[in-house]
Amino acid sequence: MIRYIKESQTFHIYNEKVSYVMTVLKNGHLGHLYFGGRIDEQVSPEWFRYPLFRPLTACVYEDDPFFSLEHERLEYPNFGTTDFRQPAFSVRQNSGSRVSDFKYESHRIQEGKPMPKGLPATFVYDDEKAMTLEIDLIDHVTDLKLTLIYTVFEDLSLISRRTVLNNMGERSQAIEKIMSFSLDLPSGEYEKINLWGAWARERHVERSQITKGIQSIGSTRGCSSPDHNPFLAIVQPQTTENTGEAYGFGLVYSGNFIASIEENYDSVPRVMMGIHPDGFEWCLKSGETFESPEAVMVYSDQGLNGMSHTFHGLVKNHLTRGLWVNKARPILLNNWEATYFDFNEEKIVELASQAKDLGVELFVLDDGWFGNRNDDTSSLGDWFVNTDKLPNGISGLSKRVTELGIQFGLWFEPEMVNMASKLYEEHPEWLIGDPARHLSNGRNQYVLDFTRSEVVDYIFKSMCQVIDGTEITYIKWDMNRHITEAYSTALGASRQGELYHRYILGVYSLYEKLIERYPHILFESCASGGGRFDLGMFYYAPQAWTSDDTDAVERLKIQYGSSMVYPLSTMGSHVSAVPNHQVKRVTPLKTRADVAYFGTFGYELDVTKMHEDEKEEMKEQILFFKRYRDLIHQGDFIRLTGPFDGDVNRTAWMVVSPDKNQALLGLYKVLAQANTGVKTIKLHGLDPEKMYKVSGYQTPISGNVLIQYGLLDIPSFTGAHTIEGRPTGDYQSQVISIQSID
Ligand code: DGJ
Repeated sequence: MIRYIKESQTFHIYNEKVSYVMTVLKNGHLGHLYFGGRIDEQVSPEWFRYPLFRPLTACVYEDDPFFSLEHERLEYPNFGTTDFRQPAFSVRQNSGSRVSDFKYESHRIQEGKPMPKGLPATFVYDDEKAMTLEIDLIDHVTDLKLTLIYTVFEDLSLISRRTVLNNMGERSQAIEKIMSFSLDLPSGEYEKINLWGAWARERHVERSQITKGIQSIGSTRGCSSPDHNPFLAIVQPQTTENTGEAYGFGLVYSGNFIASIEENYDSVPRVMMGIHPDGFEWCLKSGETFESPEAVMVYSDQGLNGMSHTFHGLVKNHLTRGLWVNKARPILLNNWEATYFDFNEEKIVELASQAKDLGVELFVLDDGWFGNRNDDTSSLGDWFVNTDKLPNGISGLSKRVTELGIQFGLWFEPEMVNMASKLYEEHPEWLIGDPARHLSNGRNQYVLDFTRSEVVDYIFKSMCQVIDGTEITYIKWDMNRHITEAYSTALGASRQGELYHRYILGVYSLYEKLIERYPHILFESCASGGGRFDLGMFYYAPQAWTSDDTDAVERLKIQYGSSMVYPLSTMGSHVSAVPNHQVKRVTPLKTRADVAYFGTFGYELDVTKMHEDEKEEMKEQILFFKRYRDLIHQGDFIRLTGPFDGDVNRTAWMVVSPDKNQALLGLYKVLAQANTGVKTIKLHGLDPEKMYKVSGYQTPISGNVLIQYGLLDIPSFTGAHTIEGRPTGDYQSQVISIQSID
């Protein structure tokens, strides 16, 4: 899977689906040759490079006007030589110089995948095959060693990359920028796809032309953020959901990030991703090493759905760890939108008891159970139970709930503190903030300085005191404000640029400690909904609260966008009350469930206030989800048409079992329209040779007809023309099951 061709100093990384080719250039720098569908093992650089004489170009050598780095595609571009595009890294040296000249020194090829320290990363099991190539490049003036690490998995159409910088010199050097990867694609016409958003409106799909110059997305909030997801796709204008080429890039990281594209005058796009350089500087002392987060580069020749399937397989099989790998995720009821802060033990037990009667498997107690917390002004950091609300403590409550025959889960917000708390009284210095400056407010709370190991240890111990001796099987880990006035009194003046990265390393270390101590607990990450929904988090928490917006119509966009990268098993999706608490929309209970099925599924409403007929409907919904849960979480998710594809009114998606014997189709029509014709929707992923029974249809039909012709989308019937039993009005949905027959 990795071949080094000595004569031409060329590397070819490949599996059956993908090839990645690099070569050592004349000046020792690493040049990029090819990334795409699998090509022949024996490759020669001359097929991929076109040295040209171009007037007025700065060239590396006086006697070779054909060799300028400006015209090469580079693997990890240096600063200050003959390439004037963005460099992949910047190191301020002792002399003040930032010029660098990293030349090929050696390489190693090994089986498996070495893991970085303290960072999330994709992994392989012992019985799986992966190969890793490490290439050492050395800058002889500074004695810095850059190691570029590439891993190829046997079964996935992707290459993973990361960068390690080692200071072999005697003096400290300041890293100002260190990207996880850089990639120069061939000259061409491209478009980019990214997932942007805001609180309660996360991961909307944006597709736009790549233009000359630099375009970038990123976050400087201290988390990956709702604004932009650490994902970028580069596609051809003709690429669709199911056809054409797509390159997808994802960063396995939850802190500040940047993803940038620079297209030069030859229409060559340079893509890179890594820790955001704004506010970043890392002092690398003699003998020390810095490891970048891992990035993954996916290639698909089967459109965006092909790209998404690769990401989904990666998350499910090479990123999710522990007991929750491919294990059925419990259907839960969360009390947040049911009670907010206003509850007591009897109310909670009543909710849990009624949830159990409906078939719910897990009850989750959200914010408000600790300290004096009756609103969002106090008590974060004081992780001891509020006995006014819960006289028997968490252990007593969890016992009562568990005895009902339903599991018990609990909410924490470990990274935060309110000034109105015992923790702040005792340790005001544990906040992130610049003592010389005003400290900005966010939801009345402040960020704990997780760059300090004593803070992480303290929170760990406090959480253990709550969890030990209880029946907790699930934790929702929330995070509701961003870092401002980024300054730590624990870091020296020369190390303040390390704060954001050290902060997220602290978060990861707390997760690691908790996972080690409580391997049975399912973690769901949350950051005011989907503000830290990234590949890094899924290494620790197998699922995430997708958005605080639970409205079914809004969720169509959010879940559709999220599915570009993240599988359904990661997406927390709940049926909530109407009028919806975020947008006040009233949608049918059926539609709310039809959307929430395509995720982890659960409820977030006061079940005690539901009518009997609604409760009967909920029981049916729960039975339905239990019947199809494995298919939904293990099957291939396919987007058919969606709110970003031209018709905002219409969404259709489906999930197909790996053996193509079973599928579930979700059809959604947002607004009713008068007097429209009936549309069909073509299906994908089925076996054209198989016959299928489709729910709602009498006659079996072949996969071939479902793929080529499709089936009827939701029709609109209005007013006097309404037909008994047919859907009418706004917010209609249908979930159709498709089963192969012998
Ligand atoms: C924000 C989360 O996204 C909500 O689900 C809820 O847990 C609140 N925080 C609680 O404060």
